[in-house]
Amino acid sequence: MYVCLCKAVTQQQIEQSVAAGDGYAQIRQKLGVGTDCGCCGQCAKQLVREYTSKL
Ligand code: FES
Repeated sequence: MYVCLCKAVTQQQIEQSVAAGDGYAQIRQKLGVGTDCGCCGQCAKQLVREYTSKL
């Protein structure tokens, strides 16, 4: 499922980045999540928190 439509970033890409040790700031920088319209930011942060807590 797409989390960020502007940058075409999927939930799976975020999950993989978290598994690789990235935090939200790094994911934002690498994948561009939240860097255009910004409306995906809260959802993306929530996903990062969820995936991080499962590690
Ligand atoms: Fe992610 Fe617009 S939907 S920046």
